Amino acid sequence: RPVLLSDYRAPAWRIEHVELACDLDIDASEIRARLALRRNGAGAAPLRLDGEGLALRSINLDGRALEPGEYMLDAEGLTVPGARDGSVLETVVRVEPAKNTALEGLYLSGPRETGFLLTQCEAQGFRRITYCLDRPDVLARYTVTLRADRARFPVLLANGNPDGAGALPDGRHWARFVDPHPKPSYLFALVAGRLEHIERDYVTAEGRAVKLRIFAEADAIGRCGYALDALERAMRWDERVYGRNYDLDVFHIVATHDFNMGAMENKGLNIFNAKYLLADPDATTDDEYRQIEAVVAHEYFHNWTGNRVTCRDWFQLSLKEGLTVFREQSFSADMGSPALKRIEDVSTLRRAQFPEDAGPLAHAVRPAQYCEINNFYTATVYEKGAELVRMLAGRLGADGFRRGTDLYFARHDGQAVTVEDFLKALGDANGLDLMPYLDWYRQAGTPRVRAREVYDAATRSYALTLGQHTPPTPGQAQKRPLPIPLRVALFARDGRLLPLRLEGEAAAAGEERVLELTAAEQTFRFVDVPEPPLPSLLRGFSAPVIVESDEAPADLAFRLRHESDGYNRWDAGQRLAQLAFDAALRGGPGTALVAWCEALAALFDDAALDAALLAELLTPPSAVELGERCAELDPDAVHEARETLENSLAARLGAALEPRYRALHAQADGTLDAAAQARRRLKRRVLDLLCRHDPARGHASARLQFDGAHGMTDRLAALAALVRSGAREAGDALARYRRRYDGNALALDKWFALQAQVPAATALQRVQALMRDPAFTLRNPNRVYALLRSYAQGNPVGFHRADGAAYFWLVERLRELDAINPSVAARLATAFNGWRRLEPVRRRQAQQALAALAADAPRLSRDLADILERTLAG
Ligand code: ARG
Ligand code: ZN
Repeated sequence: RPVLLSDYRAPAWRIEHVELACDLDIDASEIRARLALRRNGAGAAPLRLDGEGLALRSINLDGRALEPGEYMLDAEGLTVPGARDGSVLETVVRVEPAKNTALEGLYLSGPRETGFLLTQCEAQGFRRITYCLDRPDVLARYTVTLRADRARFPVLLANGNPDGAGALPDGRHWARFVDPHPKPSYLFALVAGRLEHIERDYVTAEGRAVKLRIFAEADAIGRCGYALDALERAMRWDERVYGRNYDLDVFHIVATHDFNMGAMENKGLNIFNAKYLLADPDATTDDEYRQIEAVVAHEYFHNWTGNRVTCRDWFQLSLKEGLTVFREQSFSADMGSPALKRIEDVSTLRRAQFPEDAGPLAHAVRPAQYCEINNFYTATVYEKGAELVRMLAGRLGADGFRRGTDLYFARHDGQAVTVEDFLKALGDANGLDLMPYLDWYRQAGTPRVRAREVYDAATRSYALTLGQHTPPTPGQAQKRPLPIPLRVALFARDGRLLPLRLEGEAAAAGEERVLELTAAEQTFRFVDVPEPPLPSLLRGFSAPVIVESDEAPADLAFRLRHESDGYNRWDAGQRLAQLAFDAALRGGPGTALVAWCEALAALFDDAALDAALLAELLTPPSAVELGERCAELDPDAVHEARETLENSLAARLGAALEPRYRALHAQADGTLDAAAQARRRLKRRVLDLLCRHDPARGHASARLQFDGAHGMTDRLAALAALVRSGAREAGDALARYRRRYDGNALALDKWFALQAQVPAATALQRVQALMRDPAFTLRNPNRVYALLRSYAQGNPVGFHRADGAAYFWLVERLRELDAINPSVAARLATAFNGWRRLEPVRRRQAQQALAALAADAPRLSRDLADILERTLAG
């Protein structure tokens, strides 16, 4: 039943041209498809088309209606034995958009009276629209004609360039789009409905005039301006940094509130979850502004990394996603603070990808098999995939990487290719063999790197022995050593960096260099080292590994104070906090805790330190990350130990908190510039600490901030501080927020999410009550994620109750949700990822809950059944 990479065969058929004529309506749409077919190669395989949930109305081959018996229909497609090279197949099918709650294929967004129709095809949604070769290595030219009632569907959009529009009898109208670029079916899109738009003229560096347009419903169109600006920045950046220009006359983006994922890069017609597009000062936080800019850029960048050069098969998903996330991260770094961006990205990787790599769902960046491809849109494929590209880029240097991508685009434009093709192009452009990096794509699990050091005063030499080891993952017991680039520096005791000279080298080459670890163990010998140095390893997080060190608290505190690498400074603080946490968990001595607090107290007074960086330094690792350190996980104990860290820090900063808060608040304004954002970020953190140190003053400040906030960042931070610290004022503030934002779906999502995450024994009751809120619905993915995922994945104390009640409760919600939207249900089910590491009481409860659901597997979607099966087996 699983699909295997090793089973890949080139398609037996190709499609030169797809002509679609779609008669659109809410309950039923009729799709006429005319496929110009070509045999691919000499094989004799009969034509087999993918199709799911389609009602076939007619089928013609080369102008003749086929009789039953001349074609075979089943649940997954259609076989037409009579098709030959050059044949034209015409089908007419009916689909039911309003009944499509899975949000794949053609579906309705919003209420039937006012909503609009749209599509989501990646990975395999096109087969729910028409019979076709629904695989990414079949590239075809598309001509699409849309027809619908003009009053109900005034706007009609598809991929490519507009190619005429006009009136039809009975109040209907039509519009045609021609996409000159051959594309795989997963990049197909259409949109029809009552939409407004904003637009801007853009001229590419190559001189092509392009209309940029963003479409949204009337109540949202006023919130699209920021995204349009971000789009323009992304287009300029891709021209400058990668030499990539846009290639159609129009670039359209559409916003919807009903979307399973973040956004989709359909050729020339990106479709966005409103969460990643709509922005306004009153309802959008600073973090969200940056996310919107990043996602707009991400989807735009796909035009080259994904669309012009696409994936041969879905195993290669990271070829486009990892590369595009890397491009997106580089863009965001350029638009803001690179050090901060790096810290955020690593922090995301540790919170979302490391647990995946360490759990039952662990898979390689390029998996070798899958049952349901929807379940592989993961942190591993996206975020770890981006780290792999970053390693390659680091290896080649900026110029070498650009040479590599230039060759990749030149060589593979219009093709569907593999990770090997990518590595080959990057290598060929630089006269290097990068194939050893393929193992990074094939091997799951996070490598551990151990460092041992020996300083010899007599010879002034310093030997750094690095060992690597990757723990086994499901289906991959044995791991090979990987090429691991470790960027390192050595600190002298006075905080200066030492010049680095390896044994055998004539002279020192700088104060920072990359050691390439390729074997299970290797020793690097530095000479001319005047004193025992303090190593700074994995600077900039140069490889997605875990460095296991037994660096002493004092040394970590030293690096937290003096590191010149922004990421490593933050990491030193995180390590120190981890040691403090380990001790708190065991009830051991607080040496690390004191060192952490003292170092942060010193940094707190350092006026030269960037406020946003300080905010990050002041934040201990999340409970999820800390929980990963426990062989046997008791979420309550983890929470308690983490509270010790927070409270100790609050106590140590003590009297300094309120003046700092006041100083930051005095400068409050609603502007979005980096300095203002940084101040708000630090203020949020200081307010949280103040609420711990002096609840009365903290709550009073939070209340004032909530009432007088200039924007959502301050308002939400104040609300969160009140709610999380159990302030008397919390209930009233929640009610007022609720009233103020009634009808603003994105703002309400934040209201649900915030409450779902309050760590309390009563969290389940709270979530159950919120599910009865009239604004809650299982049909909207954003709402489900806001409430249920925030609870099950963002509230370890609240979700992992010792009595297991939340496990059994979630299992029931998964059943309900699975009947509505399998891919959302499957994502939510990953909340059980760490169940096997839970302490025995919870583990037994979780296993029983999972087993009860798994027993129903035949009645579950493939999406959910696949996650359950792997979660229980791994
Ligand atoms: N390719 C999209 C992106 O930009 C993700 C869409 C995936 N959708 C899905 N239903 N699997 O990352
Ligand atoms: Zn993507």
